[in-house]
Amino acid sequence: MNPRVVLGLSGASGAAIGLRIFEILQSLGAETHVVATRAAERTFAEEIAPDAMGRLRARAEYWYSVDNIGAPIASGSFPTAGMIVAPCSMRTLSAIAYCNADSLLNRAADVHL
Ligand SMILES: Cc1cc2nc3c(=O)[nH]c(=O)nc-3n(C[C@H](O)[C@H](O)[C@H](O)COP(=O)(O)O)c2cc1C
Repeated sequence: MNPRVVLGLSGASGAAIGLRIFEILQSLGAETHVVATRAAERTFAEEIAPDAMGRLRARAEYWYSVDNIGAPIASGSFPTAGMIVAPCSMRTLSAIAYCNADSLLNRAADVHL
């Protein structure tokens, strides 16, 4: 069975790192579940291309709105091999560190921890 991995993209510099991780996970055959913050949409547009996030979204098998706090990855009983948050903004880092599960990305990180 292919490993299931959650990829969280937030609005820090390094959008290309997030994109590259997505590509590597895909090349490894991982079942990749992606959630991106609104700020990540901005950094992808500024650092890669205006349609970069849209193109990534079209390639992702599983893509969730950051507001969808009822998505499967929000549940601690949804088994995964792990979660990667990259790039990780200071805002998202602090939300994860303090269990501020106010978005799907932060909630998914919370249940992974
Ligand atoms: C082009 C660009 C680059 C940014 N780079 C960073 C960064 O490297 N680190 C950071 O913490 N915030 C950075 N920010 C600011 C965050 O996007 C902002 O704090 C945002 O509220 C983070 O929201 P999020 O954690 O929901 O993604 C950047 C913003 C823009 C537009």
